[in-house]
Amino acid sequence: MGQSITFHKADKLKPKPDGSKPLGFGKFFTDYMFEMDYSMEEGWHDARIVPYGPISLDPAATIFHYGQEVFEGMKAYRTEDKRILLFRPDKNMERMNQSCARLNIPEIDEQFVIKAIKQLVAIEEKWIPNEPGQSLYIRPFIIGTDPALGVHPSSTYKLLIILSPVGSYFGDSMSPVKIYVEDEYVRAVKGGVGYAKTSGNYAASLKAQTKSEELGFDQVLWLDGVEHKYIEEVGSMNIFFKIDDEVWTPALNGSILPGVTRASVIELLQHWGVTVKEKKISVNKLFKKAEKQQLKEVFGTGTAAVISPVGFLKWNDKVIKVANGKTGKLSQKLYDTLTGIQNGKIKDELHWIQEVKTDKQEGAKEKEEEKTATVE
Ligand code: COI
Repeated sequence: MGQSITFHKADKLKPKPDGSKPLGFGKFFTDYMFEMDYSMEEGWHDARIVPYGPISLDPAATIFHYGQEVFEGMKAYRTEDKRILLFRPDKNMERMNQSCARLNIPEIDEQFVIKAIKQLVAIEEKWIPNEPGQSLYIRPFIIGTDPALGVHPSSTYKLLIILSPVGSYFGDSMSPVKIYVEDEYVRAVKGGVGYAKTSGNYAASLKAQTKSEELGFDQVLWLDGVEHKYIEEVGSMNIFFKIDDEVWTPALNGSILPGVTRASVIELLQHWGVTVKEKKISVNKLFKKAEKQQLKEVFGTGTAAVISPVGFLKWNDKVIKVANGKTGKLSQKLYDTLTGIQNGKIKDELHWIQEVKTDKQEGAKEKEEEKTATVE
């Protein structure tokens, strides 16, 4: 893997979106992107930061026909004292390699890609929005690029990283979302690619997502692909239920995405002494718990979704109104703590944060080191 990253300067920079207006999710893109290629002969090579723009691919490229792709979702946060923080980038890179392994894509050097992300974010630091709830979304992805129609893994690939200043994934970050339990279509099955972050999982979800929106819901809650009984995950997030004083979430079973926010929420809850159960949860049992008033809160977790309270759940003709359609106390505490750690307001006791140094800071640090050396 090439260790140096070249920088190709853009002739002209784009105007930035007005941060005082809602940014939405993934609608604006910054001036630069990272690009790197793979071939059997050279491995990952030619790492470069180039002006953001269209890429040229052969119409026969593997990605267009057989969807050989993996991606990640991460964010860079701006602190009040103007530092730039990343949240557990090592976890995203670890998962990216797990996705690569499943999709038969050559593995990446995780530390090198983190370095590339940091360099790109440092160059684009002016694009990191400042308003509460806003951040710079980071989307690394890899595509198969061989011009060949035989169903085989590509022998060439491209890794790209693009950046997008974002606000809340759902209209208003803490207003509870409405979820429709999908019992006709399925997202994934054990042995398939459900645990990998790959485009096909999302393509498979679109029909049901449209159906849920037509019915007036925000997202779909997926049930298992075999029995249509057990809860898996929601369209763009993992799902948690507060049942009396315990928190339950579906156990990772091969068809559920192992979310970085999911893992962090479990660790935080355990750190607070809350009992967390990762288990097989049937939708029938959940609705029974709700009937007995034991279902106190429901929330989704994800990089894009952060902590997203769920206010309504519909399954066949049954509807549950959770926590009176409002944000529960635990969901709010998790949101405040997680975003507090991410934007540097809360001490990072669990060592999840990595700082991005800009050139200015690096320069200052070098000078500081020189000064120290002279003093010594
Ligand atoms: C993320 O949370 O980063 C995701 O990748 C969800 C996305 C599909 C919007």
